[in-house]
Amino acid sequence: MELLLLNGPNLGILGRRQPEIYGTDTLADIEATVGQEVAERGWTVTAVQRECEGELVAAVQDSYHTVGAIVNPGALMIAGWSLRDALANYPRPWIEVHLSNVCSREQFRHESVIAPLASGVIVGLGALGYRLAARALMATVPAV
Ligand code: DQA
Repeated sequence: MELLLLNGPNLGILGRRQPEIYGTDTLADIEATVGQEVAERGWTVTAVQRECEGELVAAVQDSYHTVGAIVNPGALMIAGWSLRDALANYPRPWIEVHLSNVCSREQFRHESVIAPLASGVIVGLGALGYRLAARALMATVPAV
């Protein structure tokens, strides 16, 4: 059973990207941590990071078999309407994660167009947010 870990634009350079905001963990670190977290449930992680919205849409369409998803849309939170439509048809629970506290940053980051569809949203806890999202999914996803 697979958990989809979907990351949007500019998240592939975590560790080197504004570490004072996003921390020093790389995306590979985060993927490994989530993998360790969900191993207790017998899940594996299918990690996808893309710079382009269309490729993220395709990844969602290809992931209907997964047990759930953790999604950090990056800046697509602001106007990623086709990603939103793709997630609307994703049949499993998913959680939106942002490393930074988007609510305390620029006004344009205060509203996510995908958040209303998420099972839950975690912001501002850095890489820990991904682990907490994994735990939340393990606690709430029924056995399939
Ligand atoms: C982010 C927050 C977004 O506003 C920003 O565009 C990102 C990263 C975060 O994880 O804090 O790319 O999603």
